[in-house]
Amino acid sequence: MDLQHLLTTEYIILEEIMCQQLLVVLIWLFMAIHGHSLRRRYRNGRDIRYRMSARIPKNISHLNCIINDSDSVCIDKLRMDRNVFHNLVLLTKDIGGLTDGKYMSSSEKLAMFLNILAYHEKNRSIKVDYIRSGWSVSQAFNECLRAILKLTPLLLVNSKSVLEDEIEDRWKWFKGCLGALDGTYVHIRVPSEYKPRYRTRKGDIATNVLGVCDRYLNFTYVLSGWEGSAVDGRVLQDAIVRRNGLKIPEGNYYLCDGGYTNGKCFLSPYRGYRYWLRNWQCDNPPPRCREELFNTKYARDRNVIERAFGLLKGHWGILRSSSWYSVKDYNRIISACCLIHNFIRREMDVDPLDIDMEEQVENQPEHIDVVESSEEWTTWRDELSQSMWNARSN
Ligand SMILES: *[C@@H]1O[C@H](CO)[C@@H](O)[C@H](O)[C@H]1NC(C)=O
Ligand SMILES: *[C@@H]1O[C@H](CO)[C@@H](O)[C@H](O)[C@H]1NC(C)=O
Ligand SMILES: *[C@@H]1O[C@H](CO)[C@@H](O)[C@H](O)[C@H]1NC(C)=O
Ligand SMILES: *[C@@H]1O[C@H](CO)[C@@H](O)[C@H](O)[C@H]1NC(C)=O
Repeated sequence: MDLQHLLTTEYIILEEIMCQQLLVVLIWLFMAIHGHSLRRRYRNGRDIRYRMSARIPKNISHLNCIINDSDSVCIDKLRMDRNVFHNLVLLTKDIGGLTDGKYMSSSEKLAMFLNILAYHEKNRSIKVDYIRSGWSVSQAFNECLRAILKLTPLLLVNSKSVLEDEIEDRWKWFKGCLGALDGTYVHIRVPSEYKPRYRTRKGDIATNVLGVCDRYLNFTYVLSGWEGSAVDGRVLQDAIVRRNGLKIPEGNYYLCDGGYTNGKCFLSPYRGYRYWLRNWQCDNPPPRCREELFNTKYARDRNVIERAFGLLKGHWGILRSSSWYSVKDYNRIISACCLIHNFIRREMDVDPLDIDMEEQVENQPEHIDVVESSEEWTTWRDELSQSMWNARSN
């Protein structure tokens, strides 16, 4: 091989490298000049593919049909009328920190969220209705859940106790009373290894939710998260000792059923005496002793919590059937439902779903629990029932 040939070969290789580099430089230059518009065009293309919703005229979009057309549709889908929905949007934006996304308004996010709560809609069907991707639905749901939970201090009600001069016949005996409390089961799906802990006495898999409400069915405190196997008294005890737990001012108390023992701040009925509301309808015999009279009046008032639960589960389908949300998320959802329940009660003049739920009777077998009963409290209850009895005899 001679030198000349070697040089030629080297030259050719060099030339090739140069050419390649030139090509790279040219491509780079081209990208620098046109890349921006290319990228933009690409992004628009993706928008068009994923955002079919942008192509639907606003006035016939699903959202518009729900929140702009009529109150009855809005109430049906979102459990509140258009005006209340609008107020909730403002509140979650101002205080809850919900934001208008680039492509999705906070109204739309919240509407999807309420729609899921009200009907336990699957992401899939919401996705189709609103023409969104599953990812956006899920994102919006989580965002709204966070925003609603941020409103907790604002939406939980500070209960006002029954005053000395209460004239309402129903409540006048229970001076100092703040409302009623009870536990309710909400069905849930859990991995099989947790099932024994979530199994209730009736054999369902559920969480035990403690609800506390005032006389007007507004929730004042909610504790979700206990397993279904926990007895009501245990849940209540936890609620009391928690840092942000149930606080009851001195001299006030809540009504609670026979599952809790009669103790300071918690007034329960007499055990072993006729109690359930069903016993006291028209042709039933009148109470025979002060304990029965007490239990009658008592049961009628304690019923507010059953009605509050009835209304809550009536509004939110997601609480009526077990869902696939994680236990943690589901407990947050339960709290959110209670908060929106309060909001609806506060803002809406007439709630069509507030149908006649009075005298809802739940026949629960009694069982003994752990809240300590106190001598003093029992004496007080005896005095109260005696004065009811005296008033009746006169
Ligand atoms: C929606 O708005 C467009 C114009 O923006 C109008 O032509 C159309 O009739 C409207 N549709 C309905 C159902 O109101
Ligand atoms: C509903 O109506 C309001 C006021 O007319 C309008 O600003 C809003 O864009 C409408 N919403 C939808 C989703 O069409
Ligand atoms: C549906 O939405 C929930 C709420 O964000 C999410 O946790 C779940 O993974 C979603 N499911 C699907 C199939 O996308
Ligand atoms: C409690 O509920 C009633 C409706 O029953 C409502 O008028 C009232 O404003 C609510 N209270 C609070 C503090 O939200």
